[in-house]
Amino acid sequence: MIVVMASGNGSNFEAIVNSGIKVNLVITNKKDAGVINRATRLGVHYIVSNKDYEQHVPKDTKLVILAGFMKLLSSKFVEKFKTVNIHPSLLPSFKGAHAVKQALDAGVKISGCTVHWVDKEMDTGKIISQSSCCVLDNDSEESLSEKIHLLEHKIYPETIKELIEEKNDNSNS
Ligand code: GRF
Repeated sequence: MIVVMASGNGSNFEAIVNSGIKVNLVITNKKDAGVINRATRLGVHYIVSNKDYEQHVPKDTKLVILAGFMKLLSSKFVEKFKTVNIHPSLLPSFKGAHAVKQALDAGVKISGCTVHWVDKEMDTGKIISQSSCCVLDNDSEESLSEKIHLLEHKIYPETIKELIEEKNDNSNS
């Protein structure tokens, strides 16, 4: 059983499904999240749960995939379930919810995204894979986010496939 948890648009969820990965369930904490329309269109069962989202993850879940899920999970949860996340910066730089803006404000010339294991802190778990892009002088938060999203849609499915095939089982959970 593979579960995706998402709070927003869900473009990463869609890229994962389109890559051929079988997602069994989507859990969202937002009743108006874009991921709901995508799940409906792609025929993936979804649950909306504002508070008890952790309780909806089935016991036999092999991997929990966070794809723009804007809530911190409990330590009990991340100890129980192997959980991965994708973050729009080259961690350990620029953790948190405003990573793209922080990278621009810092004037970095290279940014990108990071797939990492999830622990009980935010964006601190062991790094699994990264992909990078150039930051141009005229990049805005929007244009850089777009570039990073394109990287995400490639590296996240690729990395998840490797994890599922157990080529990489270095989970810190
Ligand atoms: C992505 O930028 C991801 O790095 C971050 O949340 C965003 C989700 O985008 N964790 P989407 O909802 O998959 O389009």
